[in-house]
Amino acid sequence: MPQRYSLAAIILHWAIAALLAFQIAVGWALGSLGARGFALFQLHKSIGITVLLLTLLRIGVRWWKPRPAKLEGGWQGALASGVHVGLYAFMLGAPLTGWALVSTAKVKVPTLFFGVIPLPHLPLPMASHGLAEGGHSLLAWIGIALVALHVAGALRHHVMMRDGLIWRMVPGRSTALLLGLPALILVGFLLGRAILPGAVPEAPAAPAAPAANAVEAPVEDNAVEAAGNASDNAAAPAANETAAVAEEPAGSPPAWAVQP
Ligand code: HEM
Ligand code: HEM
Repeated sequence: MPQRYSLAAIILHWAIAALLAFQIAVGWALGSLGARGFALFQLHKSIGITVLLLTLLRIGVRWWKPRPAKLEGGWQGALASGVHVGLYAFMLGAPLTGWALVSTAKVKVPTLFFGVIPLPHLPLPMASHGLAEGGHSLLAWIGIALVALHVAGALRHHVMMRDGLIWRMVPGRSTALLLGLPALILVGFLLGRAILPGAVPEAPAAPAAPAANAVEAPVEDNAVEAAGNASDNAAAPAANETAAVAEEPAGSPPAWAVQP
């Protein structure tokens, strides 16, 4: 049995971890970006499919180069293995539910994988849209909870048990890599936040209809969101449009700007 994971497994472990953090940072902003987020939707979908492919590769590597023997038995060992299974389910489930939700959206926007290869839509019933969307959103939180447990376990081994388990996932017993590789997760998240466009500038108040000022901002928000959902298949555009109509009486017309 090897003493540590193969280099391929280690590279994939940290690359996937950083990409997932990026995906979550971008994903949380997508709903509110609307039309301005079109390129980010494409990027989120392309990187998400990359995570799916890398995870399949990682499962192949695991089969081809078996992992080192477990260090711990008992319920703690079983918990660690259970969390690993959960993490694999998250790495596969997050991209698959994302793919499912865009495949079942009312407005079908094609996905171009990194602007080049068209991604086919999955042949799923439209009725499964809500499930896919809810699952996609929930899986991110389940993933975060599993990673927290996983990191707590790694820290327990490193700080309390001092059994060197962490070096199975960090090449060369290098302290720089011990700090740098987990830091990639933070870098991924911060990069995801950094590329988001800034907040929408306040629209100037319409002087002709002062009474409508109070409802102007929400109307604008909903309009932007609905436009975004229509231009990319974010989710249930009709639901957002209905919400916009149901919540607000028709105020002053929003200031539309056609984007290139
Ligand atoms: C790699 C894993 C992925 C992760 C961790 C991830 C994470 C997320 C998160 C956290 C959100 C925000 C959900 C919310 O509003 O609560 C989101 C939204 C979204 N994701 Fe992903 N995603 C991944 C892959 C994908 C893929 C592969 C696609 C499509 C091919 C996709 C399409 C979308 C779309 C369209 C939205 C906006 C949905 C909405 O606003 O309801 N995602 N993603
Ligand atoms: C600071 C963050 C992280 C640390 C310190 C860390 C550390 C480790 C270590 C030491 C192992 C080997 C465990 C053993 O030999 O029994 C491992 C395995 C694993 N890690 Fe992480 N990890 C981190 C983040 C993540 C993330 C974000 C994911 C994915 C969402 C992930 C998924 C996995 C999986 C699936 C395994 C099991 C590999 C296998 O045996 O097939 N890890 N991790």
